[in-house]
Amino acid sequence: MQQPLRFAPASVRTIDGAELLRDAEVARTATPVSSRGLPITLRGVRKSFGDNEVLRGIDLHIPAGQFVAIVGRSGCGKSTLLRLIAGLDAPDSGTIAFGDHDDARAQVRMMFQEPRLLPWARVLANVEVGLGAARRSPDARQHAEWALHEVELDAKRDQWPTVLSGGQKQRVALARALVSRPRVLAFDEPLGALDALTRITMQRLLERVWSDQGFTGILVTHDVAEAVTVADRVLVLEEGRIANDIQIDLKRPRSRGAAAVAALEEAILRDLLRDAADDKE
Ligand SMILES: Nc1ncnc2c1ncn2[C@@H]1O[C@H](COP(=O)(O)OP(=O)(O)O)[C@@H](O)[C@H]1O
Ligand SMILES: [Mg+2]
Repeated sequence: MQQPLRFAPASVRTIDGAELLRDAEVARTATPVSSRGLPITLRGVRKSFGDNEVLRGIDLHIPAGQFVAIVGRSGCGKSTLLRLIAGLDAPDSGTIAFGDHDDARAQVRMMFQEPRLLPWARVLANVEVGLGAARRSPDARQHAEWALHEVELDAKRDQWPTVLSGGQKQRVALARALVSRPRVLAFDEPLGALDALTRITMQRLLERVWSDQGFTGILVTHDVAEAVTVADRVLVLEEGRIANDIQIDLKRPRSRGAAAVAALEEAILRDLLRDAADDKE
């Protein structure tokens, strides 16, 4: 069934590329029905560092189980926004709520560009670290084995991190983030240091794990193609605000070569570059 692309709400501008998608094959995005994810609502969130007003009023609702990508130029505040959502830092003003759950901060896990593995611990033990205090419980090992299986790395459980490839290290980091079954997973450019092919494999893995586990996903990436390939929705962060909010209603799995994916990517890139050009004037 064909559905029009739902582009940005009235308060944010739209992208010309929407036109290109009129005839594309589109479908309602498959946010998992059995989602365990938490909804996230930000209201008037502001954050400054000294005179640097980084976030200038973020209003945003992410439904439970949605996979959102955040793009924007370097230094625009993407990592700051993730840190606030993950509770690693506090906003100067505004609120961040996770549905009715008071303890939501405990349910948010982060994954970074650097895998941050403990070099003196084997792979399975590195995954157990993600359990926090629960790693001393009798079933910790079983949970870690489950998480390693989820990222298709069972065979490496007894290896040291140093012998792993970059992609394998990131899989361990993903398993460590998954092992506590978080209801929100925030990714800060997790694939940024990987080569192009490994990146594509990892994107598919992220998408599959999200669809299996049903967490709410927030992916910060500088790769617009990655955002359009894996996310339900792409937010463009600019000058401390959400400048564009684009629904990606394309069928999954999506291939980068597909015309609709390429058209959306190009439209978002053009928008980002136009803003860069405006700044120079
Ligand atoms: N702890 C901090 N102290 C001072 N300035 C910071 C801090 N964290 C981030 N910033 C500044 O906030 C701005 C946004 O940073 P960041 O969120 O890391 O951007 P992005 O992830 O989009 O590249 C940058 O100008 C950065 O220098
Ligand atoms: Mg960053």
